[in-house]
Amino acid sequence: MAETPKTGGFSHEKVETNNFLMIVLILLVLLVGGMVEIVPLFFQKSTTEPVPGLKPYTALQVVGRDIYVREGCYNCHSQMIRPLRAETLRYGPYSLAGEFIYDRPFQWGSKRTGPDLARVGGRYSDEWHRIHLTNPRDLVPESNMPAYPWLAKSQADASTITAHMSGLRTLGAPYSEAEIAKAAADVKDKTELDAVIAYLQVLGIHRKQ
Ligand code: HEC
Repeated sequence: MAETPKTGGFSHEKVETNNFLMIVLILLVLLVGGMVEIVPLFFQKSTTEPVPGLKPYTALQVVGRDIYVREGCYNCHSQMIRPLRAETLRYGPYSLAGEFIYDRPFQWGSKRTGPDLARVGGRYSDEWHRIHLTNPRDLVPESNMPAYPWLAKSQADASTITAHMSGLRTLGAPYSEAEIAKAAADVKDKTELDAVIAYLQVLGIHRKQ
């Protein structure tokens, strides 16, 4: 039987014939590679700090955002503009990590049955959204977006907003005591439609050159 050549005291054959050792070494390589790519992002200013001018959502916007999630708008709309010419021409400047610091959970998504909404804020009037959400076909005849007529008839829920905003503050949103104290009053007397529109109208507005 032929002798295996010796390689400075460490035989490659040992690794290649021992499943356990091979698995451990593969995991080690993946771990180091992953850390090198991911860990610096935790400390980079551009990924951990809000872009200039970014404000946390107001009470009414937070409620609107919850309705956006409840109604599953994210199933058809992304909120993330990729750095590609076709996207920036259509939607505006591409998205930056620092724009989503107060988004919990973020609504980036990738499914685009409808257009991206990352910079829809200010693109249409409140009245446009009011008509569009109540029946999209009144404004865009070929639209296949569902109608949400109940939003205009439902009272916005003010009962959980104080706790919700306190929770967001714990996670880093810089709300003042005064803002949290008047949150419920800000939402009271508003409809769910008002709340969703308030939310849509601030999407991406702080970075619109
Ligand atoms: C079944 C897929 C679908 C769902 C769910 C959906 N949309 Fe849409 N949406 C579309 C399509 C398609 C369009 C493009 C046609 C139009 O303007 O109606 C659109 C357009 C829009 C626009 C106009 C965007 C622009 O730049 O012109 C807004 C705003 C919008 N949707 C908001 C919402 C909100 C808010 C919800 C949840 C309450 C929602 N959509 C749910 C498919 C959807």
